[in-house]
Amino acid sequence: MSVPARTTVAIIGAGPAGLLLARLLRRSGIDSVVLEHRDRAYVEQRQRAGILEQGTIDVLRECGAGERMDREGLPHNGVELRFDGRGHRIDFPSLTGGRAVMVYAQTEMVKDLVALQLAEGGPLLFEARAVAIEGLEAGQPSVRYVHEGREHTLACDFVVGCDGFHGIARAAVPSDVLRTFDREYPYSWLGIMADVPPSSDELIYAHSERGFALLSMRTPTVSRLYLQVPNGTDPADWPDERIWDELDLRFAVDGDWKLERGPITSKSVTPMRSFVTEPMRYGPLFLAGDAAHIVPPTGAKGLNLAAADVVVLARALARWHETGAADLLDAYSDTCLRRVWRAEHFSYFMTTTLHPDPAQSDFDTRLQLSQLHRVADSEAAAAELAQNYVGSPFE
Ligand code: APR
Ligand code: PHB
Repeated sequence: MSVPARTTVAIIGAGPAGLLLARLLRRSGIDSVVLEHRDRAYVEQRQRAGILEQGTIDVLRECGAGERMDREGLPHNGVELRFDGRGHRIDFPSLTGGRAVMVYAQTEMVKDLVALQLAEGGPLLFEARAVAIEGLEAGQPSVRYVHEGREHTLACDFVVGCDGFHGIARAAVPSDVLRTFDREYPYSWLGIMADVPPSSDELIYAHSERGFALLSMRTPTVSRLYLQVPNGTDPADWPDERIWDELDLRFAVDGDWKLERGPITSKSVTPMRSFVTEPMRYGPLFLAGDAAHIVPPTGAKGLNLAAADVVVLARALARWHETGAADLLDAYSDTCLRRVWRAEHFSYFMTTTLHPDPAQSDFDTRLQLSQLHRVADSEAAAAELAQNYVGSPFE
């Protein structure tokens, strides 16, 4: 593929943020080049989240990337909160004016966007590692990158760092300009994929004194399950039987519900953190997605925040492209951070309400249960949870 030496928008990273941005820009007639460090197979197979909120569903449809999602995705109208031996359903449409979510794996969304980009979009380079972002202060930005053993320079009008938490873009902002906010949690998630139909049609978020557990799914025949485990847990210490036995204990409920077991096809441990960078812009450099913020996974906001960021950015760039006006670009960071902090609070709330902290007292456990009962008993509290879960409309 011949790669231009200059483009309008240089996008670093082909995760959901970078790929969706490239697609949206293309639809507005703005050219871009996407540089991705890893190879295509790696990017398409990486197991990540699986819940699309209403705004993400809508934008994928609008940009012509929703066809397979609408065929294969599983619309979900609610979730179950399980605690004290009972389940309580939260109904999304009735509490949110008709909004809902979709179970569609992030890897599938990434595959759809990669295929579209390669067929119809501008250059998308795999195994192209950005090594430096230059010229930001001079207003002549460029990205230096290594591809097929050679170093190249891509000049541009804007650089967008969609390069995830460990990328180079955030580090290109001088430290006296950036402010970061960080919180780590004293537990992690052991996640498994299992070849067994999900034992519930809807997700189950379970609070138990033994720890949190989550039942989710990828398809009608593949379950995704998580267990709260101590930080530093080695998945090798969790043979399959031990995982299923522990899931049984944490999902235990009055009545005849049963967790079906099946072959476990993957196991991994993910730590939990909250992290926000302010501002999300430095001159012609914009940060989007995990490059700018991280949420703990309880509540499934990470992917959706990444999508929301690039929707805001694509609109701002389209306005600049059409009229020369930079007002929406100037508002980008503030606009995104409003949603980011809402999602940070919701993810923190879901995490700390559902996970017993290893150091917590019985008093703290009673407070968690009281909060969960409140959500189960009060329509106002349930609506607050549901509205955060399905997300507010993008912009
Ligand atoms: N040069 C080129 N590419 C890079 C570089 C670099 N120096 N550094 C990182 N990348 C690539 C990574 O290989 C990765 O493919 O940037 C991409 C970042 O993608 P994600 O980590 O998926 O981040 P993002 O697109 O913001 O998506 C956020 O993904 O992990 C979930 O919880 C997260 O669901 C959220 C979503
Ligand atoms: C998932 O299916 O991976 C998932 C679902 C809901 C969450 C987090 C992760 O809150």
